[in-house]
Amino acid sequence: MKILFIGDIVGSMGRDALESYLPRLKRKYSPDVVIANGENAAAGRGITKSIFQSLLHMGVDVVTMGNHTWDQKEIMDFIDDTDYLIRPANFSEDAPGKGMTSITKNGVTVSVINLHGRTFLPPHDDPFKKATELVEEAKKVSPIIFVDFHAEATSEKIAFGWHLDGKASVVVGTHTHVQTADSRILPGGTAYITDVGMTGPYDEVLGMTKENVLYRFQTNMPTRFEVPKSGRTVISGFFVEVDDLTGKAVHQERVYINEDYPFQA
Ligand SMILES: [Fe+2]
Ligand SMILES: [Fe+2]
Repeated sequence: MKILFIGDIVGSMGRDALESYLPRLKRKYSPDVVIANGENAAAGRGITKSIFQSLLHMGVDVVTMGNHTWDQKEIMDFIDDTDYLIRPANFSEDAPGKGMTSITKNGVTVSVINLHGRTFLPPHDDPFKKATELVEEAKKVSPIIFVDFHAEATSEKIAFGWHLDGKASVVVGTHTHVQTADSRILPGGTAYITDVGMTGPYDEVLGMTKENVLYRFQTNMPTRFEVPKSGRTVISGFFVEVDDLTGKAVHQERVYINEDYPFQA
């Protein structure tokens, strides 16, 4: 199975960039399944129903979330109605939605799991323990398991990759919005990258207008971060080919497209 993952889609610029590049990415990689992190899809904060539907329409099969899951309150009204929008599985058991789903494409099934780190982030339940539980459950469905670990600290993400080496097919880090150059297949057969990076504004600070971020750093005064509406964009992703029978990754490749690293067909 070929899996294409798209890193945190930020605002309308991120959505538009994905819409224009996804057909080209599909031609290049022929993915069976496309997974994308949508926690910043609605102007940098959360996701709405119409934006979720537009991502599906573009050709995204499963959307994962993160710390911005609940920023758009309307998600509470539809997250339980779909199998293709998941939020971190180690959120409270009383939270709406679910943290794991599965999808079958071209006769092959992949389970998709979303988890949240807890270093420099709110103290959610133990993602390591939760991952072990969910992987055991997912294995009953298919050997192919994809995990989006939404976390801040590179150390926690790398440790998490080792925790799931040989257990999951793919472990991607999201949240920090900057693609790391450490992608590889770990010895147990798990394709891993510390952070996939973001999809959206290229010339700002993690997708937020740089002037506002600079003002906050320089003054420590409260300011509302905003996503710009125009400018250059970056598309960040991770492509993995997994052996259908063993669930082990056999090929991994970073996707990183912007004016400095143009798309190569
Ligand atoms: Fe994000
Ligand atoms: Fe995040």
